[in-house]
Formats: sequence, C-alpha cells, structure tokens
Amino acid sequence: MRFVVFRSGGKIDTDLAGGTRDEYVIDMHGRLLDGPWAGSAPGAQSLNLIDMLVEDWNSHGRDVTRPGFQAIAVHRFGTWRMGIGPRVLRAPLSVLYRYLFRRVRNIYGIELPYTARVGRRVVIEHQSGIVIHGHTEIGDDCVIRQNVTLGNRRLDRPFDAPRLGNRVVVGAGAKVLGAVRIGDGAQIGANAVVCDDIPAEAVAVGIPARVTRVGGARITAS
Ligand SMILES: CC(C)(COP(=O)(O)OP(=O)(O)OC[C@H]1O[C@@H](n2cnc3c(N)ncnc32)[C@H](O)[C@@H]1OP(=O)(O)O)[C@@H](O)C(=O)NCCC(=O)NCCS
Repeated sequence: MRFVVFRSGGKIDTDLAGGTRDEYVIDMHGRLLDGPWAGSAPGAQSLNLIDMLVEDWNSHGRDVTRPGFQAIAVHRFGTWRMGIGPRVLRAPLSVLYRYLFRRVRNIYGIELPYTARVGRRVVIEHQSGIVIHGHTEIGDDCVIRQNVTLGNRRLDRPFDAPRLGNRVVVGAGAKVLGAVRIGDGAQIGANAVVCDDIPAEAVAVGIPARVTRVGGARITAS
C-alpha cells in the first residue's frame, strides 16, 4: 500500500484528486518513495571565521561555556585553517585543532570532525554521545540534541553519511544512518532510527522511523 501526499498552494493534504504540485509518495511504513527535495548546501562558507563564530555564539544563547558552542567553534576553526595556503603556517594551527577536537570529544562527548559540512546557526543543544560522520552535511538552522548519531549504516559502505536540509530538528537519541536525505524543516523524533529519506516539513518517529506528518497534515491511508 502507498500513501500519496499532494501539496498545492502551500497546503498539504491527502486528497488524491487534489493538487499535483510537489507530490510526495510515502509507503505504509512512512518511507519516502518519491518527492521533491529542497535541501541545499550549507552556507557557512560564505562568512569569515569571526562572523561565523559570532553568529554561532548568538545561536547558542551567547554562552561560550556551552559544549555545543565549543564543538561548533572548533569545527569552524578546523575548516578555516585548511584554507591557509602555506603548509608551514597551517601546521601549528592543525596541531592546535587536533588538540581542541580531542578535548571537545573526550570531555563533552561531541565528535564533530572538520570534514563534515555544517551550515550557519546550527545549534548543538546539549552534550554527550553525539557522533557526526565526517561526510555529513547539515544545513542552516538545524538543531542536534544529545545522543544523536549521524553516521554510516554499514561497515562496507564507510563513506555513506546523512545529508540534512535546512531547519532540521533531530530529537534526543535519534540515529540517522547511511546516505539518507532529510528534507528542509523535517523533525526527527527522540530515539528514532532513520534509515530512509524523510521528506521536507515531515515528522518522523520510531524504529525504523515512519513519517507521521508532512507539513502539519497527518499521513493517513488513501
Ligand atoms: C517527533 C516530535 C517532534 C513529534 O511531535 P508531535 O507534534 O507531538 O507529533 P505528533 O502529534 O504528530 O505525533 C505523532 C505520533 O507519534 C508519536 N510520537 C511522538 N514522538 C514520538 C517519539 N519520539 N517516538 C515514538 N513515537 C512518538 C505520538 O505519540 C503520536 O502517536 P499517535 O499517532 O499514536 O497518537 C516529538 O514527539 C519529539 O520526539 N521531539 C523531540 C524532542 C526532544 O528530543 N527533546 C529533548 C529535549 S532535551
């Protein structure tokens, strides 16, 4: 059985005879079979390091002691120093970055390598048990909570990693596994295990995660 969710004029409904723009096709387990993708590349690279850090500090309640801010700040620094051309200048910065990365990982339990692409104003709400794969993409204005894993699904596909659109909220304890795409504005429930793509503006809960809402409309059989 397949559920077809149509979106017309900004409104989402489950009327099969309704609008035909932006069509999502979701199976009975809430897996996205087909649909549009609004996810965009993280935009942090457009700012310089200081502006990014100020923006991140504001997003984290202007509190430099928050582990989430420190993890993001170290990530920004790690990315920025790779743009320094002469290796002789970059080398001491790389030593400092590796020290800070390990410090954040070992003390706060937040593992966020600089190779992950992290958008603007991303908030790491709390700390502990947060593991983010080095090939992950996180869009602007996303929220990552404690005990979240954004990682690969199988050891024989080590570079598969999730791509989160903008404004995605990942609930506490959620795991997003493999090269899945999470659409803009999606909410992943606490403790969900996401192994399939999730459409934009959807709510997904459970193990394996099923979509319960898209754009505020409940997913119902049609
Ligand atoms: C996913 C979430 C955003 C859904 O919010 P919501 O608007 O209440 O969702 P809905 O009303 O559409 O819920 C749909 C169904 O999923 C269930 N549900 C909600 N969250 C769930 C979760 N995390 N796991 C399993 N089921 C969940 C609801 O009970 C409801 O079940 P029903 O259809 O049988 O009534 C929210 O429940 C959640 O998990 N937020 C994460 C918050 C968090 O991590 N907080 C930590 C702060 S430190």
